[in-house]
Amino acid sequence: MSPALNSPKEIHRWCRNFPGTRAQISEARQFVTSYLGDRPETDTAQLVVSELATNAIRHTRSGLPGGRFGVTVHAGIDLLIIAVLDEGSPSVPHLCQAEDEEQSGRGLHLVETLTTRWGIHGDETGRTVWALLPLTPKHPTA
Ligand SMILES: Nc1ncnc2c1ncn2[C@@H]1O[C@H](COP(=O)(O)OP(=O)(O)OP(=O)(O)O)[C@@H](O)[C@H]1O
Ligand SMILES: [Mg+2]
Repeated sequence: MSPALNSPKEIHRWCRNFPGTRAQISEARQFVTSYLGDRPETDTAQLVVSELATNAIRHTRSGLPGGRFGVTVHAGIDLLIIAVLDEGSPSVPHLCQAEDEEQSGRGLHLVETLTTRWGIHGDETGRTVWALLPLTPKHPTA
C-alpha cells in the first residue's frame, strides 16, 4: 500500500520507472494520484504528468521498443514538483509558436499555464522535464 501524503511537516519524494508505452500514461497518472490523494492539486498534477510522459514517449527514445521513462514526485510543505525523466532525443522541449499549434504543440503551453515554473535538465542522452506548482498545506487534525 502506498503511504499517503498526510503530514504537512515532511518533504516526500517518490520515484517510479515505467515502460515507454501509451498504456503507461494512465499508470503514471495513477502513481501521482496514489500519493497526493484527494487534494485540490491532484487534477493538475495528473494533467502535467500526462503531458510530460506523453512527450517522453512521443519525442524521445523512451518511446522506442524497450524504452522507459521515470516519474518523480516531490511534495514539500507548500510546493509540488512533478519531473519526468526520458531517454533523450536530438530535439529539445520548447514552447511551440502559434502557427505550429493547430494540431499539436499545446502540451507544454498547458504545462506553462498550469504551473508556477517548468524547466529542463540534461541533454540528448537523457532529459528531465520538471514542473513546479503550489501545494495547499494540509492542516494537522486536532
Ligand atoms: N521530452 C522531450 N524531449 C525532446 N523534445 C521534446 C520533449 N518534449 C517536448 N519536446 C519538443 O517540444 C515540442 C513541444 O512540445 P509540446 O508538448 O508542447 O507539443 P507536442 O508534443 O508536439 O504536441 P501536443 O503536446 O500538443 O500533442 C515538441 O514538438 C518536441 O519537439
Ligand atoms: Mg506534447
